[in-house]
Amino acid sequence: MTEPTAVLGDITRRHADAIVNAANSSLLGGGGVDGAIHRAGGPEILAECRSLRASRLGRGLATGQAVATTAGRLPARWVIHTVGPVYGASPDGPALLASCHREALRVADGLGARTVAFPAVSTGVYRWPPDEAARIAVETVRRTETAVEQVVFVLFDERAYEAFAERIEATR
Ligand code: AR6
Repeated sequence: MTEPTAVLGDITRRHADAIVNAANSSLLGGGGVDGAIHRAGGPEILAECRSLRASRLGRGLATGQAVATTAGRLPARWVIHTVGPVYGASPDGPALLASCHREALRVADGLGARTVAFPAVSTGVYRWPPDEAARIAVETVRRTETAVEQVVFVLFDERAYEAFAERIEATR
């Protein structure tokens, strides 16, 4: 079992083997953490995303799935892009948000990554309440069988940090 931790900070600065991006199905960039990762990582990440779209992901990355690219100029080695569900868009939302975390760890295992940093997927533009997202994210990380040794949630604002830190503490 991997026991996650939570820190307040900017995920683009993490020296993890892999950082997770809260992307959209196009994989071609956006705002929030996605915009920050592409800005800090440089054009190499977008070039790899484009080539994924031109090959095996012609229709884009489905919600709940994950795919890796290298990390350009970021201190991490890889970026694992996942697509979270929009809050309230489907009754499968909780299962899809769990899937994002499970699939990201499966991709990390395929890469041989041992340390992985996650943002609070779906809690920005996609509007999930941080408490609910934290419950699903923390539970899924704990339940997923993985060779990843360290999972850290890197939260950009106090509200998300408190939601994740409290969830981890309360259910330890
Ligand atoms: N480090 C860590 N977390 C961050 C950072 C950062 N540098 N910047 C923002 N966050 P969002 P979503 C937090 O909107 O809800 C994009 O346009 C942010 O405060 O980035 O899954 C994509 O292209 C929030 O808590 O992702 C998609 O279209 C969390 O990251 C869409 O938004 C997630 O917010 C995805 O929406």
